[in-house]
Amino acid sequence: MPNSKPDSQIPRKPFLRALGGERLGHPPIWLMRQAGRYLPEYRAIRGKVSGFLELCYTPELAVEVTLQPIRRYGFDAAILFSDILVVPHALGQAVRFEEGEGPRLDPVRDVAGLKRLGMEGMHDRLAPVYETVRRLVRELPDTVALIGFAGAPWTIATYMVEGGSSRDFALARGWGFRDSQGFGRLIDLVTEATAAYLIRQADAGAEVLQLFDSWAGVLSEDEFRRWAIAPAARIVKAVKARHPDVPIIGFPRGAGIMYEAYVAETGVDAVSLDSTVPLEWAARALQSRVTIQGNLDPLVLLTGGSVLENGARRILDVLGKGPLIFNLGHGIVKETPPEHVARLIEIVRGRS
Ligand code: CP3
Repeated sequence: MPNSKPDSQIPRKPFLRALGGERLGHPPIWLMRQAGRYLPEYRAIRGKVSGFLELCYTPELAVEVTLQPIRRYGFDAAILFSDILVVPHALGQAVRFEEGEGPRLDPVRDVAGLKRLGMEGMHDRLAPVYETVRRLVRELPDTVALIGFAGAPWTIATYMVEGGSSRDFALARGWGFRDSQGFGRLIDLVTEATAAYLIRQADAGAEVLQLFDSWAGVLSEDEFRRWAIAPAARIVKAVKARHPDVPIIGFPRGAGIMYEAYVAETGVDAVSLDSTVPLEWAARALQSRVTIQGNLDPLVLLTGGSVLENGARRILDVLGKGPLIFNLGHGIVKETPPEHVARLIEIVRGRS
């Protein structure tokens, strides 16, 4: 009799088991930016659309590029193909991606600028993303988990205020120091929008959610508590109120020893480590509380050979004793040879 097993006997996806705190024979693996320009099949699809946002907002194509790395490598999780900057776009800010230059936004630098943005119509603009999630639920193999994601408020605010990528984040941090109430209103808007966006992704079928705070590492302790920990805690609380069983992975990249406070105070189920975090410290200070994700240096994957073998094995040795999801410490570099990714998966899955 098919389908006669009670739910509790159906083996859960390895990725979800690791997030539930289980230590598996070999850890599940996926890579940040696993869909992207290092893959020739991605570049082929990217060449068909005029702009990057068009790719994010066309469910048929977004589904296809999400599935490409799953088909090629058999990762344990697929991450929705989109970008963190669809949120400021959906809030009414102009966002463009210029070839070779990264993102460009019409900057918001004061409360007057903030008044032009808002959540009305946000979900209509984001509807194609939710449609992509629904289609992925139908198309993914049943051993592969689906990750939804958003940028964390601080990281999103840096792009909104600076108008693009930045070296020193002086405008965003400066606004926070000069007028913390006004900047706090921007953070509050993004926090509320992000919680609503993640809830809709989970409604559509995302099984896990990741919050990317890529620029958390530039914040001092006080700023980190106010602009990274507090908004993440509010988002986790709001999402859990609607989806208590959807695990949330936090990625406060570059947080150093503040990773400990982040884990203790946000309520995330797992934490993604950047490559600077010492492994023994992470095993001791973090892994007893949450599942660890990470943290191979993307440049080690780019390098390959014995550098890759040794780097991957050290993570498996030190963090493999507890709940672990193997990943990079940041997104895959676009020059990475696709064979290096195949080799990494063999190493992690214990094939010599
Ligand atoms: O495979 C996946 O991980 C899913 C898709 C994904 C993208 N961006 C696709 C993308 C995810 C999860 C992101 C997150 C993202 N986007 C972050 C957080 C993670 C991190 O890397 O720190 C940030 C900061 C962004 C903002 C962003 N998007 C920048 C700065 C850029 C330009 C820089 C670059 O690499 O070109 C992007 C563009 C982008 N997002 C691309 C992809 C595949 C490349 C654009 C293209 O193909 O033309």
